[in-house]
Amino acid sequence: MKVILIGFMGSGKSTIAEVLSEQLAIEHHDLDLLIENRSGLKIPEYFDQFGEAKFREFEHQTLIDALEMDGIVSTGGGTPVQDANFALLLDHPTPTVFLNASDDTVIKRLVSDGIQSRPLFQQLGEEGLLDLKHSRQNRYEQLADITIDVNDKTPDKIVAEIIEKLNQGTNKERAY
Ligand code: S3P
Repeated sequence: MKVILIGFMGSGKSTIAEVLSEQLAIEHHDLDLLIENRSGLKIPEYFDQFGEAKFREFEHQTLIDALEMDGIVSTGGGTPVQDANFALLLDHPTPTVFLNASDDTVIKRLVSDGIQSRPLFQQLGEEGLLDLKHSRQNRYEQLADITIDVNDKTPDKIVAEIIEKLNQGTNKERAY
């Protein structure tokens, strides 16, 4: 079984993927972690040393490889909105789950994670980050086979909703 998780920074993709992976007893591949392991650099270090354009190239190659793997793939917030990745994901037979978080939820989580872990938050500040979030919403919605509102819900509740919707089936059932 395969599932792809998408959503803005701070929507909980990595946490939800971990819990979902335990409950479905399938592997989890976190794209940012794969990038960190392959490059030997933390994401902010990668941005510092090579810039965003190079990061996006590396991210694209890593996404291609991750989509070959079985299990859950949690993407970075910007992954699905890059043209090449968008096209890849749109055509992919795997069900895509969009974790939809409000502006408030995102800002609260990112502030509590620490600004230094998110280079784009550092560069753009709160207002710029929310503009980015709004500009990406349409692409997330276009890719979503399942959309989950994640505000004020525990990871267990979110995962239960995802599993229920996966069991109901999506238009990409051939992936199972
Ligand atoms: C990014 C999101 C980050 C990471 C990088 C760029 C983005 O992942 O890939 O900092 O463009 O939204 P998370 O969504 O896991 O924070």
